[in-house]
Amino acid sequence: MSEFLKFPSNFVSDQFVEYIDKSEIQTVVESLAHTISQKYKGQELVLVGLLKGSMIFMSDLARQIKNVKVYIDFMKVEAVGRSKESNGTIVISKDLSSDVLNKNVLIVEEIIDTGRALSFVKERIAQAEPSNIEVITLFDKPYKRAVPVKADYIGKQIEDQFVIGYGLDLDQYGRNMSEIYYLKYPN
Ligand code: IMP
Ligand code: MG
Repeated sequence: MSEFLKFPSNFVSDQFVEYIDKSEIQTVVESLAHTISQKYKGQELVLVGLLKGSMIFMSDLARQIKNVKVYIDFMKVEAVGRSKESNGTIVISKDLSSDVLNKNVLIVEEIIDTGRALSFVKERIAQAEPSNIEVITLFDKPYKRAVPVKADYIGKQIEDQFVIGYGLDLDQYGRNMSEIYYLKYPN
């Protein structure tokens, strides 16, 4: 039985459908980690995870990167707007904690939709003058891009669905689920 179905019966379990299982996520993350390990072999790399959504991906990815001196940092930006979309003004609620001057930075995103959040973060990090900025995302939804921003490494392109699980939430629900689910009746 999936973890989702075990949730108390007052929850809207009929609203979500399992979409990507644990083993597929694991395969995708392993492959991404391998690519990053090759690219940054013998170098230093600051992983900047975007809270809260990237926390699970970040921890699985970071642990599988080999032969790279990895530093971990997080940023949190918030979009003032509807919960299922990220349009609106973006504000920083947690800035970088480390100095990334002349460092390699890899921004770790769990999903890119309009690209607004990522574009904002990229600009902010660029101000700190790292030697290099790349972006890795677990999932990409290229359909509603509002800003021309691209990830350098993409785990999987998914359909234009609202998804939860593996760090991703709907109004804070679902981050701890090991599988990805999509919203059956988006409104
Ligand atoms: P963007 O600025 O539209 O690219 O979206 C940025 C943020 O919106 C992501 O980092 C997620 O936190 C959230 N988001 C976008 N699509 C989804 C989704 O399908 N499920 C959960 N969160 C999402
Ligand atoms: Mg979110």
